[in-house]
Amino acid sequence: MSTDRAGFIAANTTVQSTALLPEIRLHLASESMPIWQMSDEERVAAGLPLPYWAFAWAGGQALARYLLDCPETVAGMRVLDVGAGCGLEAIAAAMAGAGAVTAADTDPFAIAAIEMNAKLNQVAVNIRQLDPVDQSGDWQVVMVGDLFFEQPLAKRLETWLRGLRQAGVEILIGDPQRTYLPRQGLEKLATYAVPTTSALEDSDLRNASVWRMVYV
Ligand SMILES: C[S@@+](CC[C@H](N)C(=O)[O-])C[C@H]1O[C@@H](n2cnc3c(N)ncnc32)[C@H](O)[C@@H]1O
Repeated sequence: MSTDRAGFIAANTTVQSTALLPEIRLHLASESMPIWQMSDEERVAAGLPLPYWAFAWAGGQALARYLLDCPETVAGMRVLDVGAGCGLEAIAAAMAGAGAVTAADTDPFAIAAIEMNAKLNQVAVNIRQLDPVDQSGDWQVVMVGDLFFEQPLAKRLETWLRGLRQAGVEILIGDPQRTYLPRQGLEKLATYAVPTTSALEDSDLRNASVWRMVYV
């Protein structure tokens, strides 16, 4: 497997906008593309992590839509996007006028995709290949788009986010009611019907909400 990640992304995606976010252009994979048709064995042999970065997840789309609709949420602020994937929430925050946006993801393909997508939308995003969970920083807003799908990660995230909230950081979560979304201490800000693909989700439409964490 070559390390030309940008070349791999360009070859396996097309530039598209989702119906909910016509303002943002992203390199996304269509269902017919080989990246979706690879078996797990083929993927592992090719050294490819699951291509989360090739899809605009329902929770991330809801959060990005909310930021574009309510730019005052992040305007002028230092914002961190955790598990940024294709970078859609980070791009929306930059478009909404955030003072500085950092997009963090552990997957090097996501890092390459965010770079390409930020450039496509002509916005400045600091892109970091790292796991920021359990770390501290000078963020005023921390954004989480569709990360509560796996228990160990969800537990770590919730503990870290609650600590940040206690320290005064605004926590924004976009989520379509994944299994491990915290059941308490969240205030719902908005809900969107997000068209999605039945290849990844059970349905071609998911309701996803935007939540802010409150003190518990
Ligand atoms: C389901 S995708 C969500 C992507 C994007 N936020 C969205 O809504 O479209 C999850 C992403 O989180 C990243 N991720 C998972 N655990 C992480 C961690 N501990 N730190 C940083 N990134 C992480 C994965 O690599 C993947 O890109």
